[in-house]
Amino acid sequence: MLRIEPSGAALGAEIVGVDLSKTLDDATFDAIVAAYHEHEVVFFRGQTLTPEQHIAFSRRFGELELHVRADRCRPGYPELFVVSNVIENGKPIGSQDAGLFWHSDLCYMAEPSRGSIFYAREVPIADDGRPLGDTLFASATAAYNALPDSTKQRIAGLKAVNSYEKGYYRDRKSGGRPPLTEEQKRRTPDIEHPVVRTHPFTGRQCLFVNEGYTSAIAGMDGPDGETLLNTLLEHATQQRFIYRHRWRVGDLLIWDNCSTQHLAVPDYELPRRRVMERATVRGSRPF
Ligand code: SIN
Repeated sequence: MLRIEPSGAALGAEIVGVDLSKTLDDATFDAIVAAYHEHEVVFFRGQTLTPEQHIAFSRRFGELELHVRADRCRPGYPELFVVSNVIENGKPIGSQDAGLFWHSDLCYMAEPSRGSIFYAREVPIADDGRPLGDTLFASATAAYNALPDSTKQRIAGLKAVNSYEKGYYRDRKSGGRPPLTEEQKRRTPDIEHPVVRTHPFTGRQCLFVNEGYTSAIAGMDGPDGETLLNTLLEHATQQRFIYRHRWRVGDLLIWDNCSTQHLAVPDYELPRRRVMERATVRGSRPF
């Protein structure tokens, strides 16, 4: 019997009593989706999943994206983007520096992702037994709701520019990345989305800007636009809107890319290994 245990933070809940390696009946799946929409981040502990089972469960949420960095996907599984610090045969097995700034996945596409389904295969552990490499999630609905009315009025109807290039070329802990190929650039032109986005399933209002990829408020090139964007970015990631996930091997966590943004904490290094795999569910055009 499925049980939902809210984290006590502004978002996040554990779902207990589900084995995701099995095919779930519709009622159980619908209960998971309802909890996901309600809590914005939901997770299951202690799962043992093959890549096929991870993909099959994820596909029930919708079509899966094939990441623009195909060389960082699990070999033979283009639906699984690998986030890892591990190097095998001289080559990184995944993206070594994904998510080191606040962002939501694929916000730089015309149709940003509906949600990401992240499976923890290896989690780094500190000498004192604490897990390292936590992920922070901030609720974009809580952030919107907490804005002063005057700001809500000011930003209603505004759009922001989201830029893959901005995020791609930021300074990285692990050093440089190869320049984007012409094909990657063609797939990721800068794109405008509403600053306040309506959630396509819940109808909630979400503050849809993030420090990683949002480069400007559209049509406000001067200092006013910059100040407004910076104010919104600072507001969106205050402690009161955050749930911090401490990973365990076998966690499967689903985050909503409309109603949340996230940040990976890079507080570990080899020989401590972190291996995570992400299926990314296709979304719809923001409104
Ligand atoms: C990501 O942003 O997809 C990665 C998050 C993480 O590694 O915790």
